[in-house]
Amino acid sequence: MKSSYHPQRMEIIVRVVFVLTLVNFGFVNGQIYDVLKFGAKGDGTTDNSKAFVEAWKAMCSSGGNNKTLLIPSDNTFLLQPLVFQGPCNSPSVKVQLEGKIVAPLNKAAWSDLKSCEWVSFNKIIGLTVFGSGTINGRGSSFWKANTPASKHPTQLHFQGCNNLEIYGITSFDSPRNHISINDCRQVKITQIKLIAPGDSPNTDGIDISASTDVEIYDTMVGTGDDCVALNSGSINISITRMQCGPGHGISVGSLGKDGEESIVENVQVTNCTFNETDNGARIKTWPNGKGYARNIVFKDIILTETKNPIIIDQQYIDKGRIDVEESSAVAISNVTFVDFRGTSRQDEIIKIDCSEVTSCKDIILDRIDITTIDGKKPIVECINAYGNSTNAYDGCLKPTHKPNL
Ligand SMILES: *[C@@H]1O[C@H](CO)[C@@H](O)[C@H](O)[C@H]1NC(C)=O
Ligand SMILES: *[C@@H]1O[C@H](CO)[C@@H](O)[C@H](O)[C@H]1NC(C)=O
Ligand SMILES: *[C@@H]1O[C@H](CO)[C@@H](O)[C@H](O)[C@H]1NC(C)=O
Ligand SMILES: *[C@@H]1O[C@H](CO)[C@@H](O)[C@H](O)[C@H]1NC(C)=O
Ligand SMILES: *[C@@H]1O[C@H](CO)[C@@H](O)[C@H](O)[C@H]1NC(C)=O
Ligand SMILES: *[C@@H]1O[C@H](CO)[C@@H](O)[C@H](O)[C@H]1NC(C)=O
Repeated sequence: MKSSYHPQRMEIIVRVVFVLTLVNFGFVNGQIYDVLKFGAKGDGTTDNSKAFVEAWKAMCSSGGNNKTLLIPSDNTFLLQPLVFQGPCNSPSVKVQLEGKIVAPLNKAAWSDLKSCEWVSFNKIIGLTVFGSGTINGRGSSFWKANTPASKHPTQLHFQGCNNLEIYGITSFDSPRNHISINDCRQVKITQIKLIAPGDSPNTDGIDISASTDVEIYDTMVGTGDDCVALNSGSINISITRMQCGPGHGISVGSLGKDGEESIVENVQVTNCTFNETDNGARIKTWPNGKGYARNIVFKDIILTETKNPIIIDQQYIDKGRIDVEESSAVAISNVTFVDFRGTSRQDEIIKIDCSEVTSCKDIILDRIDITTIDGKKPIVECINAYGNSTNAYDGCLKPTHKPNL
């Protein structure tokens, strides 16, 4: 092959490099990529998605460490659906949210309603999203709409982001769930607040799937659905000191929908409070699923007027589905509920309703001190459930090993 030298092409390259250098000096203050320098208008009405993506691309493609995309305070930035795409050239990048991000005013004003995510982070390694700013999805027009929830956008979506950290930010009124974590490893989430009205549909706080080593601590979640939902592929998850409520509690599942194989294991939920939630600690699976949910601990839980403080439901069926013959189930084993105290809004404080096919094995109920707000004697119910229970609930679970005759 003949190698060729083109002086004109060389000159163009030199010019481009020169212009890029100018751009860098002019727009970028050291390591900070301020969206205002990339054309964003913090006036609350201009669509800034393009400027945000330009700032992101500039930061993400520059090498080196300690780069920050800054969303400055005292500004309100309207964003249409957008993707922050990785991988980046640096081993870690930050997004500092100090100002406000808002969604289009209502459903009709969204430019891309097919998109199931509003703000997406894709395949970014070493991402930190932090700051004292807020993001508001103005979800009420979606909540009222007669469209399936699956068509409503997730507020903040993280996909394939290993070494992810999220702290400080507040998220309001997501059209669907506030945060989803999918296919991520080594995730730390702390000091965040996720807020939506208690009657807003499908506004889960944090949804996790296909992700490992996720730590969530010192957070506040009050929404209309699950504070946290641990879906299939959630492994090594720890949630501690979460204030949950209003909402539907912290839930493993629902798992095994449409015969799907689901796995959730090594989950610790500790030192959490549930205030006026529908559920406290919950595991729910669909009939005819496969896989397992195991090695799960709920410990040091305080409940205030929770409807279903402790619930395992293996007959979970969404409304509108017909009941089906059960031939398999997600197998539930080694689940501990220990040190629960507080009040229940219903008399049935514990319901362990397990599959006839797999049964629940090695369930432990220990030091459960829950009273009912109407003063009636608490009711506990165990179906197809084996393990140890102590205190007042002795005998609810059947002993795992039948005595030899
Ligand atoms: C990273 O950047 C921030 C903001 O510019 C600065 O305060 C901090 O000292 C930098 N850290 C390192 C390790 O360079
Ligand atoms: C879960 O954590 C354990 C103990 O730290 C570790 O050995 C295991 O590899 C982790 N599992 C996954 C899937 O990362
Ligand atoms: C949880 O609460 C218990 C009892 O109040 C306390 O001993 C323990 O240190 C706390 N653990 C965490 C991780 O906050
Ligand atoms: C529970 O939430 C209500 C408001 O919904 C609040 O008034 C009350 O103080 C909270 N209770 C606890 C124990 O946090
Ligand atoms: C049961 O789960 C706990 C908590 O995850 C774990 O430490 C323990 O090893 C598990 N036991 C078995 C027999 O797997
Ligand atoms: C249940 O309790 C018995 C007797 O206290 C104990 O031997 C056994 O290990 C316990 N089983 C579990 C799963 O904790």
